[in-house]
Formats: sequence, C-alpha cells, structure tokens
Amino acid sequence: MIEYHADLEKISAPDLAGFFVGWARRPTPETHLRLLRGSDYFYVATHAGSSRVLGYVTAISDGVLAAYIAHLEVLPDVQDRGIGTELVRRILLRLDDLYMVDLICDDDLRGFYERLGMRPWGGMIKRSYERQAGTCD
Ligand SMILES: CC(C)(COP(=O)(O)OP(=O)(O)OC[C@H]1O[C@@H](n2cnc3c(N)ncnc32)[C@H](O)[C@@H]1OP(=O)(O)O)[C@@H](O)C(=O)NCCC(=O)NCCS
Repeated sequence: MIEYHADLEKISAPDLAGFFVGWARRPTPETHLRLLRGSDYFYVATHAGSSRVLGYVTAISDGVLAAYIAHLEVLPDVQDRGIGTELVRRILLRLDDLYMVDLICDDDLRGFYERLGMRPWGGMIKRSYERQAGTCD
C-alpha cells in the first residue's frame, strides 16, 4: 500500500536516493531535502511503514492567486502504478482555492495532465544548466 505525506517527519536525505533521472547534474539527496523544505506545498509517496520516497511533487505559491507545480517525479521501478496521478491529484486539491495553477511539461505528458483536469497552454522558460544540481559548479 502506498502512503502520501505532506510532511517530512520520517524522511531523511538517504530516503531520497534515485531521483532526477536523466539530469546531467543531479541534485544530491541532501539538496533534494532542502528543495522539499523550501517548497510551499509538497507530497511524498512511500510504501506503508517505509520512509524510502517513491515519488514526490512540489509547488510554490504566492498564497493569493497563483501556484506553480515545479517538480513531479516517480522512481522508475514504481512508475505506472498510479503514484504520479495521485501526487498531482492531491496537490491540485490542496491548491484548489487559487485562481491559477501552472506547470511546464513535455508535449507527450499533456494527456497525463489533461486527465487530471488541466489544459494545454503556452509557456516560456529560462534554464541555467550550471546551476542544475542546486549548487554552482
Ligand atoms: C510522469 C510521471 C511522474 C508519471 O508517474 P507514474 O506514477 O508513472 O504515473 P501514473 O502511474 O499515475 O500514470 C501513468 C500514465 O502516465 C503516462 N505517462 C507517464 N510518463 C509519460 C510520458 N513521459 N509520456 C507520456 N505518457 C506518460 C503513462 O503512459 C500512463 O498512462 P496510461 O495510464 O494511459 O497507461 C513519471 O513517469 C516520471 O517520474 N517521469 C519522469 C519525470 C517527469 O517526466 N516528470 C514530469 C515533469 S512535468
């Protein structure tokens, strides 16, 4: 059984191993923990009774009108079991009182988010790849 938590009470850095798959510069588990702590909202998924994180979602918000879903990832070995859907469902519910909730995603993921009630729109991004790991090289 999967549990979803909105706190980090039982989570320490080693529980966050294995994320940022495919990133050229991967944040360390310690940086990942900092990222979660710095987010206005987040959920982490674990197996019941375990602290190993299987997936997580984060959002940052002004608390008045807008929120941005910054990160969503499920570990490769537990993908396609509904964890990503449940993480997004929960964070959208948490942000339901806001006017706008935005995110940026690859085109092939549009269907995934559409099923959760979102709709496609344009977006602009800026990336500083030397800062991708959460620290400057
Ligand atoms: C996207 C992601 C979070 C989905 O998590 P998950 O737990 O596997 O998702 P669920 O099991 O709830 O849903 C799976 C559905 O999403 C679809 N899906 C997942 N990744 C997809 C992708 N890259 N492109 C298209 N569809 C995708 C699956 O095909 C599946 O569809 P189906 O139910 O019609 O078969 C996970 O694949 C992941 O971590 N990917 C890498 C990081 C990423 O892309 N994050 C999103 C940033 S915007």
